[in-house]
Amino acid sequence: MADKLLEIKDLSISFGEGKNKNVAVKNANFDIYEGETFGLVGESGSGKTTIGRAILGLNNVESGKILFEGNQINKKLSKQEEENVIRNIQMIFQDPAASLNERATVDYIVSEGIKNFHLYKDEAEREEKVRDMIKEVGLLPEHLSRYPHEFSGGQRQRIGIARALIMEPKLVVADEPISALDVSIRAQVLNLMKKIQKEKNLTYLMIAHDLSVVRFIADRVAVIHHGVIVEMAETEELFNNPLHPYTKSLLSAVPIPDPQMERSKKLITYDQNHDYENDKPSFREITPGHFVWCNDTEESNLKK
Ligand SMILES: Nc1ncnc2c1ncn2[C@@H]1O[C@H](COP(=O)(O)OP(=O)(O)O)[C@@H](O)[C@H]1O
Ligand SMILES: [Mg+2]
Repeated sequence: MADKLLEIKDLSISFGEGKNKNVAVKNANFDIYEGETFGLVGESGSGKTTIGRAILGLNNVESGKILFEGNQINKKLSKQEEENVIRNIQMIFQDPAASLNERATVDYIVSEGIKNFHLYKDEAEREEKVRDMIKEVGLLPEHLSRYPHEFSGGQRQRIGIARALIMEPKLVVADEPISALDVSIRAQVLNLMKKIQKEKNLTYLMIAHDLSVVRFIADRVAVIHHGVIVEMAETEELFNNPLHPYTKSLLSAVPIPDPQMERSKKLITYDQNHDYENDKPSFREITPGHFVWCNDTEESNLKK
């Protein structure tokens, strides 16, 4: 088995204080192994971006640990440790229109990270690195002198991917990288990410609200609901044998491309008739590698 690249241990994150406190993530636990694509899927507002930003050090963590290559990174880091994290964990953002500096050329945007860390010996090498990267993501060297507004949404996301990958990171947190794009080009961008992953042996945390995206790209999937990771398993296991009622309801809401089957389909709704006050839930391994957020009663029902 591959090494653990990232470990999330009992991670809780909230915003606001007192009466206004909003628990965005509650006791999240998962590991991401080197070379895999780990999918994190949930509806809007469920806490996905909050987890992604916490990994990048952009959100304060209330409790719990984030480990990268075995070292805790959600604490005060030395300058060198911090540089190591920034270089090795990069993010691709949901909205390529909002995340690119409109006043900067593509060359400047893609170069910024390697400039900050002096990751080239001279100007010729910088130019070569940027040119190679821009070609790698399917753009052209002549695009480098242009500005983001001169590009389509899909091309902008390619610029965002180039900006992240030029750092040669180990882990890429991709926060709904295709959800702002036209449906017609989503597959292209996902395929590009898959291709580059193979070539560079990258590890992905792929955040999505769309189950079909994670099914297409992820090796393992965690489902998050209202800040709680309710289920985690290998992708096919999760889709073929969902155990948590919320996962079942999500899967039942995916349209079946056969009108007859679609009409006769039963929509499952997620109703909570459990006693979590007296019989407390936690994240439990029901079958090897398949985890569910449940209490003792639910666990024994699942194991029947
Ligand atoms: N900076 C913030 N300040 C206050 N609340 C926030 C902030 N970021 C996220 N939240 C809240 O945390 C919850 C999870 O948000 P988010 O992680 O963005 O969800 P998702 O990415 O799954 O759509 C939401 O209730 C959201 O309003
Ligand atoms: Mg989000």
